[in-house]
Amino acid sequence: MGSHVKIFTYGCQMNDLDTQKMFSELARGGMVRTEDTREADVIIINTCSVRQKAYEKTLSNLGRLSSLKKRNPGLIIVVAGCVAQQEGAALVERMPHVDLVIGTHQLHRIRELIEKASREPAPIVVTDFSDAIPFMDLIPDGDFVTPGHRASINIMQGCNNFCSYCIVPYVRGRELSRDASRIIEEVQIHASRGVKEVFLLGQNVNSFDGGMSFPGLLREIDAIEGIERIRFTTSHPKDVSEELIACFGSLKTLCSHLHLPFQAGSNRVLKAMNRHYTKERYLDLIERLRQARPDIAFSADVMVGFPGETHEDFLQTLDIMERVRFDVLYSFRYSTRPGTRAASRLDDVPFEEKSERLYELQRRQKEITLENNRMRVGTCLDVLVDSVGTRCPGQVRGRSTHNTVVNLPGDESLVGTIVQVLVTRANANSLTGELAS
Ligand code: SAH
Ligand code: SF4
Ligand code: F3S
Repeated sequence: MGSHVKIFTYGCQMNDLDTQKMFSELARGGMVRTEDTREADVIIINTCSVRQKAYEKTLSNLGRLSSLKKRNPGLIIVVAGCVAQQEGAALVERMPHVDLVIGTHQLHRIRELIEKASREPAPIVVTDFSDAIPFMDLIPDGDFVTPGHRASINIMQGCNNFCSYCIVPYVRGRELSRDASRIIEEVQIHASRGVKEVFLLGQNVNSFDGGMSFPGLLREIDAIEGIERIRFTTSHPKDVSEELIACFGSLKTLCSHLHLPFQAGSNRVLKAMNRHYTKERYLDLIERLRQARPDIAFSADVMVGFPGETHEDFLQTLDIMERVRFDVLYSFRYSTRPGTRAASRLDDVPFEEKSERLYELQRRQKEITLENNRMRVGTCLDVLVDSVGTRCPGQVRGRSTHNTVVNLPGDESLVGTIVQVLVTRANANSLTGELAS
């Protein structure tokens, strides 16, 4: 087996975590992480397929590696993640320089399969789905948890929702929850290493079913000594229960932030997307969450140009934005994904129209984000400091409970601590402050 490994990562936090775990697992086998492609003996591309653009990026990056492989025939090229799962053997037909295609349920075999690929000339393709995902139980070593005071933890994988535009259920499989006792054990290990914030990950965390409910799991983690903050993603509005809302009222460690994708504002479009809620129900949820936790901040995902979306429909999306006033909004142009239900519909909103809607939405969101930031000037926020400023010496940065980036004067000694910060300035995407006395 080669000794240096480089991993390119695309896609969501789930993929970031899978990358950390792959590094950790390969290091256990004696491999060393490198950032330099030319130095690498193994290159892994951890891929995302959620939008056409992400998919194309993966393929063009992969194409570029072909010349590297010609110069260095011993190089092992691995494709992991969602494109690997989607394409399987078709990928090695198009890209003969690929040595290993490893699907989303098989990552626990990464070490063994790389060793096999280094012995065998023929490409290996392993993309079976299974009814257990052992990789979820792998706990990355301390060195691979970045930054060290915050840890991402897989609580479930897969999705049963089949939103009509979405490829995730096809590439991650059906929902599989990890056993709650394993999750709690992992949180305890992180806490003993000094981790203060845990970030629970799953495509659809509200339907967690690992021996207790999701709110039950939150209460258990809340009670673990040393854990001061809990975040989670992603939630589906149709599955936000009374019990979860109550957690925002009762659990002090639960951060005042919820990522709650709404995707579209028009009920007609939401129905065609198979989302199972209406605009009214979404706004009602936001209201009830605000009652439980008055300072809660929201972020969301939204897309423009779903097949059949009219300008009137789009105005409903803008209306949700005006009413909720998200801190952060991740916005995308709809793109057709193969095999999904929406793929059988004509992608009839012209690209220019999608771009105009996206531009309008992002322009307005920028203003709202700044207005939200301005409202926080003069207030005191708890900030978990996570790093020393790279561009501004003498500055550190961290995040407030709302997940807003806060910069303040300070040094290394503050990293990993939660400090009280008086906010002095609002910026486009962050706040500036100083230590409160
Ligand atoms: N499980 C999460 C995230 C899914 S993917 C959830 O349910 O919210 C992240 C985001 O990508 C989605 O929320 C959606 O806004 C966007 N997305 C998914 N499929 C898409 C498509 N075909 N075109 C454009 N955006 C898409
Ligand atoms: Fe995709 Fe919908 Fe599942 Fe999210 S809930 S992963 S958008 S199918
Ligand atoms: Fe992309 Fe797969 Fe995540 S498709 S968004 S990397 S689950």
